[in-house]
Amino acid sequence: MTIDFKGRVAIVTGAGGGLGRQHALALAARGAKVLVNDFGGARDGSGGSATAAETVAAEIRAAGGEAIANAASVTDFAAVQAMVQQAMAAWGRIDILVNNAGILRDKTFAKMDLADFELVLDVHLMGAVHCCKAVWPVMTAQRYGRILMTTSSTGLYGNFGQSNYGAAKMALVGLMQTLALEGAKNDIRVNCLAPTAATRMTEDLMPQTVLDALKPEAVVPAMLVLVSQESPTRTILCAGAGSFEAAHITLTEGVWIGTDAQAPEHLAEQLARVTARSNDSVPQSGAAQGTLEIGKAMQQVAR
Ligand code: NAI
Repeated sequence: MTIDFKGRVAIVTGAGGGLGRQHALALAARGAKVLVNDFGGARDGSGGSATAAETVAAEIRAAGGEAIANAASVTDFAAVQAMVQQAMAAWGRIDILVNNAGILRDKTFAKMDLADFELVLDVHLMGAVHCCKAVWPVMTAQRYGRILMTTSSTGLYGNFGQSNYGAAKMALVGLMQTLALEGAKNDIRVNCLAPTAATRMTEDLMPQTVLDALKPEAVVPAMLVLVSQESPTRTILCAGAGSFEAAHITLTEGVWIGTDAQAPEHLAEQLARVTARSNDSVPQSGAAQGTLEIGKAMQQVAR
């Protein structure tokens, strides 16, 4: 089996450097026409220049691929809509959206300004929302779409000094969960990637020997699988240094406690059973999780 993207059109945001550049190069090398987006700013989101996106688009063309550049900030919905129009005018369809653009404004929560919290949410969460919203009607009309959110181990599990980033990254998992459900009938599949890679984003967070092992290229196979024709949907893959794992939002089997006045005490006594993971499951939707609870209560009534 070969994964190829001939005839497919992809938008990769934040593709002027780091992981996004590798994503764009790999999609183009496997036949996709790629719109390379990057607003070209610093790691903290300041500044901006069209050069970063243009350089990567030129690199793709020099290697015999098809690419156009776009310097929109994903925080600007009008500019994102214009970016989608640019891809449509050039190629008439959009099959793949890789939401990759991101910034960091790390500080402990105690020291963090709300402005730094909001900007990080704006770029990661609203940036992805803008791009999804702009491509959604196109993918719906095509009855085909593959969308990837770039989440992070910080969102899934937390990291010191990254409350803003973690909140934004976990919000993308929530966005995926519902878009995957709503897109299913039109073959729009939505997944998340949690990469670990040596880029300017991580260069001062890890020692050099570790950074050497973490080439951004090692993350790319997970991206390619998650946006391919045979991709899963609603899947969270972690990828780094050639290893791949899946993260799940699981639910324990739990215990029916009831609603009497002593319920808090009974729950406290049984907390170890409630949190025991031996029969974990992954509900197919939020509604399905609620249905499980109602089912347990109804079983008690039936007794
Ligand atoms: P990077 O800083 O090299 O790349 C991010 C790119 O996004 C930059 O080229 C930047 O100009 C662009 N960008 C930033 N704000 C933008 C905006 N408003 N509009 C358009 N483009 C914008 O960092 P890296 O590591 O390649 O990050 C890529 C993605 O992977 C990010 O979403 C990041 O949060 C995520 N990630 C990276 C990890 C790592 O280990 N490097 C770990 C977990 C997640």
